[in-house]
Amino acid sequence: MDALLEARSLSIHFGGLKAVENVDLDVREGEIMSLIGPNGAGKTTFFNLVSGFLKPTSGTVKFMGKDITGMEPHETARLGLVRTFQKTNIFADVTVADSIRIGFGQHRHAGLIGILGNSASVRRENADVHEKAEEIMKFCALYDWKDYLVKNIPYGKQRMLSVALALATSPKLLLLDEPATGLNPTETKELIDIIFNIRNKLKITVFLIEHNMNLVVSISDRLAVLCYGEKLTEGIPSEVAKDPRVIEAYLGRGFQPNVS
Ligand SMILES: Nc1ncnc2c1ncn2[C@@H]1O[C@H](COP(=O)(O)OP(=O)(O)OP(=O)(O)O)[C@@H](O)[C@H]1O
Ligand SMILES: [Mg+2]
Repeated sequence: MDALLEARSLSIHFGGLKAVENVDLDVREGEIMSLIGPNGAGKTTFFNLVSGFLKPTSGTVKFMGKDITGMEPHETARLGLVRTFQKTNIFADVTVADSIRIGFGQHRHAGLIGILGNSASVRRENADVHEKAEEIMKFCALYDWKDYLVKNIPYGKQRMLSVALALATSPKLLLLDEPATGLNPTETKELIDIIFNIRNKLKITVFLIEHNMNLVVSISDRLAVLCYGEKLTEGIPSEVAKDPRVIEAYLGRGFQPNVS
């Protein structure tokens, strides 16, 4: 498998704090890759660097072989590198269905004249958007909530909606920042199935930050571990989870990986 995303010697320093330091990391096409590490290890900062929300102090990022170092977030998104955020920030006063249709609307192709004129091509596109939104809601276990206002659906479903909105942009690489946070066990199981389906059915590569080690170990092809901004190790989950350095990194912060 080829590397879809390649970070080389990637660093960002905030004053004296080396939040990400000299990290080499590849995400290969077609895999589910996870980034783990204790609180404050630099995981979200790493996502911010590769998706363009922060500019690195040094190092490079390539996506599909193209140098994207320092690109703006909307440019990386247009290339197909799309992320969700650790904190949910989605429209609250629209229905689930409308928010997904709006998400699609931002990526439609009819020109301004077509939109103003309500032409046949726009009507076709509207029907198309409607159909795709229905599909995505089914795919993300949101269909039963489609007519609810986003602010009135359970928190776990709001998290799922942020995944659905990212999918509406047809990404090649989907970056998920702690998607299981705040999910109950049923929703966590749904999320695991959805992530598998994103990779297996939609053929989208998934790069995930997650604290829930059972989830991470059960779905990831590979893991990388960050600690104090540096990459401690990477490899297949069963080996990484029993690596003494990884266990110590978690124990040192009073938190156990908790792999069953
Ligand atoms: N914009 C910023 N300015 C200054 N310091 C920052 C900034 N962003 C992050 N940091 C610091 O960088 C370090 C890494 O933060 P980051 O949010 O990447 O950690 P994380 O691994 O995602 O942690 P968590 O598991 O809690 O989400 C922390 O010490 C954080 O306070
Ligand atoms: Mg984080």
